[in-house]
Amino acid sequence: MDTALDAAIAKGKTARTALITGASRGIGREVARALASEGWHVLSGVRDANSAPPGTQAEVVDMGDPESMEALAKRLRTRNQRLDALVNNAGVYQGPAGQIWAVNVLGPLLLTRALEPLLARNARVVMVTSGLGELSAQPASLVKRLSNPELSLAELERLAKEAPGGYGASKAALNAMARVLARELRPRGILVNAISPGWVRTDMGGQSAPRSVEQGAASVLWGVRLPPDGPTGGVFEDGKPMERIE
Ligand SMILES: NC(=O)c1ccc[n+]([C@@H]2O[C@H](COP(=O)([O-])OP(=O)(O)OC[C@H]3O[C@@H](n4cnc5c(N)ncnc54)[C@H](OP(=O)(O)O)[C@@H]3O)[C@@H](O)[C@H]2O)c1
Repeated sequence: MDTALDAAIAKGKTARTALITGASRGIGREVARALASEGWHVLSGVRDANSAPPGTQAEVVDMGDPESMEALAKRLRTRNQRLDALVNNAGVYQGPAGQIWAVNVLGPLLLTRALEPLLARNARVVMVTSGLGELSAQPASLVKRLSNPELSLAELERLAKEAPGGYGASKAALNAMARVLARELRPRGILVNAISPGWVRTDMGGQSAPRSVEQGAASVLWGVRLPPDGPTGGVFEDGKPMERIE
């Protein structure tokens, strides 16, 4: 892409930019805070502009609303905003299946597709997944569709609209999406992985979860900091593979 810009970033003269969705609280907020404290320019994808962590720039987006995601992508495209990392972290655990799949699957799919032209060469994309998305724990009909080697984003989009299952099934679809996108973006050196934070003490995880927000965020940040020869298309927690998908 822009070699002079790459060189400036390598010398630390220009900040890298990351967009983190669901940055208002929990794991996403900690990922945004940690990257900002390291000098990244952080765009916090939030529903309420006042909820972005300090030191980051609020970007209002509702991950359950395709028009809102398109509006964000349009704003960033108008600014010609280069993105070095995209962390699709926003997620919901409860509610009607259609809503879970809209936020957990269709949201990351539409947003990543809309922002693809802005992703820098060698950018990192992280899909924040869950151990509950393990393929072997899903119904056979879903396993068959997700493990089809011909699986496409169009098929995942259809699946998201069908919403076949709850939270775990939605995360299994997200893992498959990371695999499909990794294949598509590999020629540009972009690494796409699904990363689980483990069971974390957040509003979603509850106070009896064993892991701190910092520990959960560290697992996710591993995917942002991968070296150029790092893995792509996989499912990881704390840097260790959770599932062989290729
Ligand atoms: N906590 C765990 O134990 C655990 C385990 C495995 C995986 N995960 C995954 O980790 C990610 C973060 O979870 P968390 O524990 O930090 O959850 P959390 O504390 O409940 O926070 C969820 C975040 O997602 C945002 N969000 C929800 N719906 C949204 C929508 N329609 N549009 C935009 N943002 C939306 C929330 O924003 P608002 O403040 O606007 O609601 C909030 O920032 C999720 O993908 C979750 O599935 C969590």
